Amino acid sequence: MVLILALPPAALNGQQAQPASSRYTAPVITDTGSLKGPRQPIFFRHDVHTGQDQIPCMYCHYSAAISSEPGIPALQTCMGCHQLIGGGPPSHQAEIKKVRDAWRERKPPEWIRIHALPGFVRFPHMRHIKALGTQACVTCHGDVQKMAQVSQVSTLRMGWCVRCHVKNNVTRDCSVCHY
Ligand code: HEC
Ligand code: HEC
Ligand code: HEC
Ligand code: HEC
Ligand code: HEC
Repeated sequence: MVLILALPPAALNGQQAQPASSRYTAPVITDTGSLKGPRQPIFFRHDVHTGQDQIPCMYCHYSAAISSEPGIPALQTCMGCHQLIGGGPPSHQAEIKKVRDAWRERKPPEWIRIHALPGFVRFPHMRHIKALGTQACVTCHGDVQKMAQVSQVSTLRMGWCVRCHVKNNVTRDCSVCHY
């Protein structure tokens, strides 16, 4: 209780405690139907979390640097914040309630997979992060920090892979990418 009372009200509902002038502010979205990408079971906004509130990508996708599959964070990661943060605007509160309900009912949301290579392609995600850096997400995934809903921006076609390998002097041996 003491902790909660000590926090400024702005921090409690997740708004910036610092002056917002130099910060990106995620827009209010009323028409979700016009957003690119698949509609997810919970309207989780990357522009709010990573653009406005500046949570690093690796906070949630921590396995991106160590695994072939970067993975989607477990609800436990969300609840580390949303135990306390209930949301400012009513639209946020409604979506955060879904997160809390899912946690209570132990029913993790079934996120729709957006990027998926065919099974005959080998893509070691972590090798790319190691070589290109944790800031390189944007190179392949676009400006996720400004995306209210994630959509695929790169083709993920063979030509796309090979062009970058040529540029970086990486092998183009068929068997490296194909089993
Ligand atoms: C607060 C946790 C959190 C943070 C921080 C976060 N993400 Fe995510 N990310 C998610 C969740 C949850 C999903 C699944 C729902 C969705 O697609 O929006 C996801 C999905 C994605 C996807 C789509 C995965 C697929 O199915 O193909 C990409 C790409 C992605 N994130 C990139 C990023 C990048 C780049 C950053 C940093 C700019 C970032 N994420 C920061 C939680 C997070
Ligand atoms: C490091 C803290 C933190 C973590 C971790 C976090 N959030 Fe949030 N989340 C916030 C803040 C801050 C807001 C903005 C609250 C406001 O002002 O309404 C927010 C807002 C939201 C909203 C409403 C706005 C939006 O983005 O659509 C949803 C839904 C949400 N979070 C879901 C999630 C889910 C799902 C996860 C786990 C994958 C997660 N959050 C992890 C801090 C966090
Ligand atoms: C060299 C290009 C490249 C870079 C750099 C990159 N990704 Fe990816 N990412 C991909 C490809 C390709 C896939 C699809 C992989 C597959 O289907 O096997 C993917 C898939 C994903 C997924 C979905 C996988 C899953 O397990 O559901 C997430 C989340 C993701 N990337 C996050 C990130 C984050 C965060 C970063 C930065 C730290 C990043 N990526 C950097 C190319 C890249
Ligand atoms: C840097 C990674 C990479 C290398 C190197 C690579 N490929 Fe591919 N290849 C892919 C990816 C990704 C796909 C799936 C996407 C697509 O079809 O474009 C693919 C798809 C294919 C397909 C299926 C095309 C289709 O239309 O279904 C064939 C056949 C193929 N590759 C042959 C080769 C041969 C032969 C070589 C060596 C000369 C090679 N690949 C080298 C990444 C690579
Ligand atoms: C933005 C540039 C970029 C793109 C796009 C890219 N790669 Fe790479 N890739 C690299 C770099 C750089 C390395 C070298 C990593 C290292 O040295 O460990 C690499 C390494 C690899 C390796 C390991 C090579 C080895 O020697 O074992 C594989 C496999 C691979 N990439 C597959 C792919 C596939 C499949 C795609 C497309 C779906 C792709 N890459 C797209 C930059 C890229």
